[in-house]
Amino acid sequence: MTSADLTLDEKASLTSGATFWHLKAVERLGIPSVMVTDGPHGLRKQAEGGDHLGLGGSVPATCYPPAVGLGSSWDVELVERVGRALGVETSIENVAVLLGPGVNIKRSPLCGRNFEYLSEDPIVSGVLGAAFVKGVQSQGVGTSLKHFAANNQEHDRMRSSSDVDPRPLREIYLRGFQRVVEEAQPWTVMCSYNRINGVYTSEDPWLLTRVLRDEWGYEGVVVSDWGAVNDRLAGLPAGMDLEMPSSGGHHDRLIAEAVRGGTLDEKHLDLAADRVLDLIRKAQAGAGAVQGPLDIDGHHALAREAAGRSIVLLRNEGGLLPLRKDAKLAVLGAFAAQPRYQGAGSSLINPTRLDKALDEIRALATGEVAYAPGFSLAARTTAEEAGALREEGVAAARDAEVAVLFLGLPARLESEGYDRTDIDLPADQLALLDAVLAVNPNVVVVLSNGGVVALPFADRVPAVLEGWLLGQAGGGATADVLFGEVNPSAKLTETIPLRLADSPAYLDFGGDFSHVRYGEGLFVGYRWYDARRLQVAYPFGHGLSYTTFAYGDATAAVNADGDIEVRATVTNTGGRAGREVVQVYTSLGTSLVQRAPRELKAFASVALEAGESREVTLLVRRADLAYWDIRVDRWVVEGGGYTVEVAASSRDIRSTVEVELAGDTVALPLTRSSTLAETLAHPVAGPVMQGALAEMMGQVGDIASAFPEDADMDQLIGSLPIGRAPLLSGGSVSMEMIDGLIALANAGTPEQ
Ligand code: BGC
Repeated sequence: MTSADLTLDEKASLTSGATFWHLKAVERLGIPSVMVTDGPHGLRKQAEGGDHLGLGGSVPATCYPPAVGLGSSWDVELVERVGRALGVETSIENVAVLLGPGVNIKRSPLCGRNFEYLSEDPIVSGVLGAAFVKGVQSQGVGTSLKHFAANNQEHDRMRSSSDVDPRPLREIYLRGFQRVVEEAQPWTVMCSYNRINGVYTSEDPWLLTRVLRDEWGYEGVVVSDWGAVNDRLAGLPAGMDLEMPSSGGHHDRLIAEAVRGGTLDEKHLDLAADRVLDLIRKAQAGAGAVQGPLDIDGHHALAREAAGRSIVLLRNEGGLLPLRKDAKLAVLGAFAAQPRYQGAGSSLINPTRLDKALDEIRALATGEVAYAPGFSLAARTTAEEAGALREEGVAAARDAEVAVLFLGLPARLESEGYDRTDIDLPADQLALLDAVLAVNPNVVVVLSNGGVVALPFADRVPAVLEGWLLGQAGGGATADVLFGEVNPSAKLTETIPLRLADSPAYLDFGGDFSHVRYGEGLFVGYRWYDARRLQVAYPFGHGLSYTTFAYGDATAAVNADGDIEVRATVTNTGGRAGREVVQVYTSLGTSLVQRAPRELKAFASVALEAGESREVTLLVRRADLAYWDIRVDRWVVEGGGYTVEVAASSRDIRSTVEVELAGDTVALPLTRSSTLAETLAHPVAGPVMQGALAEMMGQVGDIASAFPEDADMDQLIGSLPIGRAPLLSGGSVSMEMIDGLIALANAGTPEQ
């Protein structure tokens, strides 16, 4: 069935939802209504008969670690496996599309939705996002890659314009989306609420058609974020196929009228209707692929495994961790009994069950485990109440061998829909920590937070676990890591700065009057901290283990496809099995364009038994080395000697090797604005110019007398545009000669 079988009104009807979560059916032709729901880290399917605003409760589903946690595993296989399990749950519930993953870049630690995003780096976001999509879609259901694009804050998100230059837009903000589209073809891509450089993404033909479809080869449906449509008649020809949720038929009528009135070419409607039909066909083909009932225990076990792989061991002085099971413990902090395990907003899952860290610690411990909340999670607490809670906590800590302190951000501080204003932990929690440290130095801090928090205490606390938001089994996973049942292997996919004021977007995050200038340009995340040589609390890529890893010397060679194959032997030099996330960064010292000191290009999560050595091969794709060249509006790989660093984190480089790479040619036409140096380097114009140079030099000699004898005259003269030569050559070079030279040179310049 194609759009040709449908009436104009039927075609228009397919371009928007029937309800909050359903697409329209065309009963006359037996086209069913299919359902889409959030996502991403679990299924948020509203119970049948629920309200139509999408606000009500949802059927129980496994709550896996949100992206902030799962991404920290850096493990493609694990992410794909979680994706498959999500696909199973989606299929059992007869839902066609799970609305995720979110691959937006964490531009600032303040973004309220950072918990739903994977990284500050586009390779991490793209590679893991693609794995997620492949996993979910392997079960005959679809995904929605969101939020396309440059949606990096919640403040003013429905109208704010992300004003981004072409290079950061391509190299940082779109690169991850491109990777997922090219590698995994998500069934749908969800355009974001915001504008990019003044244009709503929901009506941007450049973004939705030229880049997404013509350049990246996207074949699926573009769906609007819920309520993101600004001008439906502009959106349809731009490539925005499906509006969600329902517009109550209003926009369908507008579209049909516009076609009848001749102001909208019907071919745009046909295209959108055909894409939606194709989506429904895929949903029908996949429907029933998995039959219930859901294996609740099995999926909970996977959620626990994934959560254990999401916890980052930031610090472990003196090997305080793992804890002995018979140690006398004081578990402190309200989060131990009231877990903060996911973020607020559209991704809120109704979990099938919920582990509490306190119960799980008691289940594994053989010694005494005391508990005191130590602080309250309520928005308002009096000083007396806070003091009493603190005293109770300190008393428990005084009697214990080790105090395990659960600190974090109360749910109200981070959510979809608004951003944070600082990165500090609440003052009463910091006061509790100080008071506990005064009576017992053996403190383990376990953090629960969706966005990074400042860690002013990090030097004073022997052990810190970054527990992010870990999903429904996070409590068990935390106990597993504390007691060493699981050896931590996660690493940071975002930098933890010392101060918010150090962070790249600090000066213009949020923006003025609905315009946010991305003033830090390419220097997002570690790219910024490295370029500015700033100290950080913990760098991108950092994460410890209960074992240690040694790296041998790396080698790098260009293979037949032009990619760089990097090899390094990694050895588990400690006494227990573990996993190491091996990272590859590149740089090009001779680059003609601005670049970060190092950029992540490949990574691998490697499991090694105690004492085991393995040669790891990592592929740096040639395409990932390209920069976006604004002169020719395309990707260009520069040739030269690339520095390849094999590293345990962005600030723990273990082996460095150089590799020579042949670059792409960028043949630019010669113009009057071309410099003398560029002209001299031109294969045709160069020799001719060389001849004319001597005559010109007479005049230039006069200019040179005004400069120091040892001034770099080559650079000075080389930077003169040739169109100025007639003025500066004392009449020896005419503009006709210059134009003749330009014509001669360009006759041999190949097309771009
Ligand atoms: C969110 C999307 C979500 C949609 C449907 C929007 O507000 O931005 O991520 O998928 O709602 O709930």
